[in-house]
Amino acid sequence: MEQEIAKIREEALKDLSAANTMEALQEVRLKYLGKKGALTRVLRGMGGLSPEERPRLGQLANEVRVLLENGIERMLEDLSRQEQMRQLATESVDVTLPGRPAPRGHQHPLTTVLREIERIFASMGFEVAEGPEVEWDYYNFEALNIPKGHPARDMQDSFYITDEMLLRTHTSPMQVRTMEKTVPRLPVRVIVPGKVYRRDDDATHSPMFHQVEGLLVDQRCTLGDLKGVLLAFARQMFGPDREIRMRPSFFPFTEPSAEVDISCINCGGEGCRVCSGTGWLEILGSGMVHPRVLANVGYDPETAVGFAFGMGVERVAMLKYGINDLRLFFDNDVRFLHQF
Ligand code: PHE
Repeated sequence: MEQEIAKIREEALKDLSAANTMEALQEVRLKYLGKKGALTRVLRGMGGLSPEERPRLGQLANEVRVLLENGIERMLEDLSRQEQMRQLATESVDVTLPGRPAPRGHQHPLTTVLREIERIFASMGFEVAEGPEVEWDYYNFEALNIPKGHPARDMQDSFYITDEMLLRTHTSPMQVRTMEKTVPRLPVRVIVPGKVYRRDDDATHSPMFHQVEGLLVDQRCTLGDLKGVLLAFARQMFGPDREIRMRPSFFPFTEPSAEVDISCINCGGEGCRVCSGTGWLEILGSGMVHPRVLANVGYDPETAVGFAFGMGVERVAMLKYGINDLRLFFDNDVRFLHQF
């Protein structure tokens, strides 16, 4: 048996050095180490040896096995290295070719419009403030002169966390929060961008949308000041030819109240499909801050007077870009978003 092992060793090493492909190496492995391989057979035959011979011959056979395994392993490595070198030598890479650019996103159209609104009001001295989206009933309604059971609540149903806490239905609660902090100082000049929530869902309403609140309180301030500020805004946002008009309206927290329209950006006021033939487009609600709201936060309505307005950001963006379905803003379809 000792001779047989020596012979296997000699032959195996010869086969190994002759093998110069992956396939040939696998064949060598099979021939000696496979299930029916020569060395495997010898190793199996160990059981028939005497206890004196077994350890010595066992060791001998094992040495051959290790030799062979290591040899095959090394040659496989050599072969794959050679393959790599061959590829490097024959396949050239043009390092001067431009790389593939990673796709880049950009600002959402609503953010662009929001930043523009902020820029315009900042240029008129308004500071930007932000408030919580989960709001107390007190700030969202009560302090704004909308007591429980008031019909104005019907149009602003929302998601209630508790009886006294809800997703805010407008940014107006920030009128109250802001004034609570500034009282008794004057003037107060803030705009408040943010998300608001209502039970609404169609082509022009989404259960979540954005508003920008505006608030100015000073010793002296008139409806004319409000109109001037909004006209300046409309012209910067929609072009120097815009006119605005104020229509009497009602909000419990402003008195008097007005709905503000801009002259149609499509037809300029003649009447067309965009403005339903009226020549005007509604963009916001506004009014003079109700004395009761001022009193609620500690300002004396005799010495402090203010105006407030609230506009829908989606509405402004739809008009500016000529978009007819508000839901497109939130579908996140890049074919839509790429256009801005
Ligand atoms: N908060 C009102 C709304 O969402 C808009 C508004 C704001 C009206 C400020 C008057 C003054 O409908």
